[in-house]
Amino acid sequence: MRLIAGLLFISIFGFYTAPEFTDWAGYNGGNDRNHFSPLSQITPNNVKNLKLAWTYASGGADTINQTTQMQCNPIIIQGIMYGVSAGSQAFALDASNGREIWKTTIREKTPNMTSRGVAFYSSPAHSSKIFFGFGSYLFALDAKTGKPVETFGDQGKINLVEGLKRPGADDYAVLNTPISIYKNTLIVGTRVSETAPALHGDIRAFDANSGRLLWTFHTIPKPGEYGYKTWEKNNYKNVGGANNWMGMAVDPKRGIVFVPTGSAAFDFYGGNRKGDNLFANSLLALDIRTGKRLWHFQTVHHDIWDRDIPAPPNLFTMTVKGKKRDVVSILSKLGFMFVFDRVTGQPIFPIEERPFPASEVVGEKTSKTQPIPLWPLPFVKQSFTEKDVNPWASNKEEIIAELRKSQTGQHFIPLSVKKKTIFFPATDGGAQWGGAAVDENSVMYIPAKQNPVHISLIPLEKTIENSGKSLYVQHCQSCHGQNREGNEDGTIPSLREVHKKYSEPLLTQILVKGRGRMPAFNFLSAAEKKAVLAYVQGLNVAVEGPVKKSTLDFSPFTFTGYTRWYDSQGYPVSSPPWGTLTAIEMNSGKHLWQVPLGEYPELTAKGIPPTGTDLYGGPAVTAGGLIFIAATKDEMFRAFDRKTGKIVWQYKLPNAGYASPSIYSINGVQYVVIACGGGKVKTNSGDKYLAFALKN
Ligand code: HEC
Repeated sequence: MRLIAGLLFISIFGFYTAPEFTDWAGYNGGNDRNHFSPLSQITPNNVKNLKLAWTYASGGADTINQTTQMQCNPIIIQGIMYGVSAGSQAFALDASNGREIWKTTIREKTPNMTSRGVAFYSSPAHSSKIFFGFGSYLFALDAKTGKPVETFGDQGKINLVEGLKRPGADDYAVLNTPISIYKNTLIVGTRVSETAPALHGDIRAFDANSGRLLWTFHTIPKPGEYGYKTWEKNNYKNVGGANNWMGMAVDPKRGIVFVPTGSAAFDFYGGNRKGDNLFANSLLALDIRTGKRLWHFQTVHHDIWDRDIPAPPNLFTMTVKGKKRDVVSILSKLGFMFVFDRVTGQPIFPIEERPFPASEVVGEKTSKTQPIPLWPLPFVKQSFTEKDVNPWASNKEEIIAELRKSQTGQHFIPLSVKKKTIFFPATDGGAQWGGAAVDENSVMYIPAKQNPVHISLIPLEKTIENSGKSLYVQHCQSCHGQNREGNEDGTIPSLREVHKKYSEPLLTQILVKGRGRMPAFNFLSAAEKKAVLAYVQGLNVAVEGPVKKSTLDFSPFTFTGYTRWYDSQGYPVSSPPWGTLTAIEMNSGKHLWQVPLGEYPELTAKGIPPTGTDLYGGPAVTAGGLIFIAATKDEMFRAFDRKTGKIVWQYKLPNAGYASPSIYSINGVQYVVIACGGGKVKTNSGDKYLAFALKN
C-alpha cells in the first residue's frame, strides 16, 4: 500500500516524496484492541504546545431535539480517516485537514443506535471496503466513494436480524461495535434487547466479499452442543441474549477470535433459565476458520445482575517467570481483570470460586459460587456500606437510613422484591465499553467509575388488565420510571411532556424504530402501541383487540430500573473518587498508580480535591509516554504522563468526548483525534471531531 501511494505521488507531482503514514488500523487501534500508538513526537515535555489542528462537524440527527451521541473511535488508513457522524452516517475525510471526502446518506428503516466505528478491509483481488453497522444492517462500502458494494450481500448489505430469530422474540438486533476481520472472514456480533423477548446472541462469520454466511456459533447451545446441559431444556428456543455487543479481538498469527459475551435476557431474573448458562458472560476463543470453540471461561455463572463483560479483550505479551506468554485479558464491571494464556485458556493468575448467598425469590436459583480473580487486585472499590457514604453528601443521614434498609456490602447479592439491592460498581461498571490501553512494556491503563445503582424486582400479576398502563409497566417502566419521570441523570428522558414535543406519528415511529439505548417495540400491535402512548400522556385506556405475547409469558418480574443513586444536590452518594484511571504493570500484576479522572469545577473551586466523574470511553497510550483520554462528564480532553499519572495537558472540548481517541501520523506530523458527541449524563449533544497536533 505504501509503495502504491508513493508511486501515485510521483505520477501526479512528478517528483519523489513518498507520503509517510502511521495508521490507526482498527477499532481501539487494531486487532489487539490495545489503544496503542508507536508514535513519539508528542511527549510529556512538549505536550503543552499541543494545539487544535482541525475540526470536523459530522452532522447530527434529522429530528429536532433528538439527543445524539458519538462513541466512535475513528480509524485512519494511509492518511484517510473513516468514522461515523452524530447522525449515524459513515464518512471519510482527509485526516491532515478534516476535509470531507464522502458521507453516506443511508435511509433504511431500522432501529437507531450509536455507532462505535467502522472496520477497514483490503485484499489484493478486491478494492478496499469499509464495513459499517447502520442499525440492523451490516453495510460494505467502497472505501474510495462510500457507495455500497453491490456484490456484497443484498445490494451491499446484510440484515443481521435474519438468522437470529426465535418464536415470540422481538426484532431488535443492531451492530454498534465494529466487526472483526481475519483474512477474508468477517466476525460479527450484535446488540440485542436486554428484556425477555431478546433475539439470539449468536456469533456469526461472513465472507468479506460475497457476504455469504460462513458459520454460526450458538451462544445458547442447541441439543447435543457443548454447554446445552447448563440451561433448562428448551432455553435455546425461549431465551435470548448472551450476545457480543462490546467487540472482539483477533490473534492474526493463530487465527483465533476472542469473543466476550453479555448476560442472557432478561437481565435480572433467571428462574426460567436455571443453570450456569454457558456461554453467557463468557470469554470464548473460537477458531476463525471453522467457528469451533477452542476454550472458554465464564466470568459470572447464571447472571441475574447484568454483569456483561463490558469491553473488548486486550491481546498482549507478558513475561511470566522469565518466559514470554501471549495472553488475552478481559476487564469486568466489578473491577476485576482475568488474564489467560491465548492458546490453552489457562489462567495466568489464580482465580477462586467463592460462595455467594442464595436467592429467596420464588423460582430463582442462583449459582452457589462465582469466580473471583485473586490477582491483580481490583481497580475499583469493592463495596458500598455506611462508612463509604460521601462525607459531605447534602442529605447524608437520609442516605444512611436508606442504605440500612437495603441489601449491600458485596457482589452478587440476589435481587429482592422487598428491598433495594445496591450495585457497586454500578450496572455499567467499573470498567465500561471504552476498555483499557496496553503499552509496549505491558502496562495497562484502565478508566473506571465508582458510583452506586439500586434495583428491586417488581412482580407482574398474571391477572394484569389489558391496558396501556399494564403495557407501560411491562415494557417501559424499568427505564422511564414508575411515574414516567425518566432517570435522574437524564440518560433516560422523562415522558411526561413528550406529547408536547412530538406528534403521535413521530411517537409511534420512536416505538417502531427504537432510539439510542431504547430498543424497538415493533412487536407490539398497533392497538397496543396506541394504548401505551395514551398512557404516556396520562390516560389509561384498554387495548382494543387481542393482546400479543407479553413479558409475562417470559418472566414473572420486571425491575425498578437502573437507578443511579445521587444525593439531593446531584452528586453520587458514595465517597469520591467517582472516576479513576489506574495503571497496572501486567508482568507482576502490581498497581503502579491510580488517579481521579475528571472533576466538578464547582467542587474544585471549593478546595475539594478532584473527585473524578462519571465517564464513558477509553484511553490511548503512546510510545511518546502519554495517555490521552476524554471520557469525563466535565467535557475535558486530557493527557497524562504514563509513568506518574500526572496531568500534563488539558483542553475544554465543545462537548463531552464519550469515545476513545485515535492517534496517527501524516508526513511526520502526529495527530490525536477525538469525537465530541456528549448527550449522556446531562451533558449536551454535539457532532464535532477535533484533531490536535504540535504547533511548529
Ligand atoms: C432499555 C430502556 C428503555 C426502555 C425499556 C424504553 N425506553 Fe424509551 N427511551 C430510552 C432512552 C435511553 C431514550 C433516549 C434515547 C435517545 O434520545 O438517545 C428513550 C426515549 C424515548 C422517547 C423519546 C423521548 C424524548 O424526549 O425524545 C419516547 C417517547 C420513549 N422513549 C417511549 C418509550 C415507551 C413508550 C416505552 C415502552 C413501550 C419505552 N420508551 C421503553 C430507554 C428506554
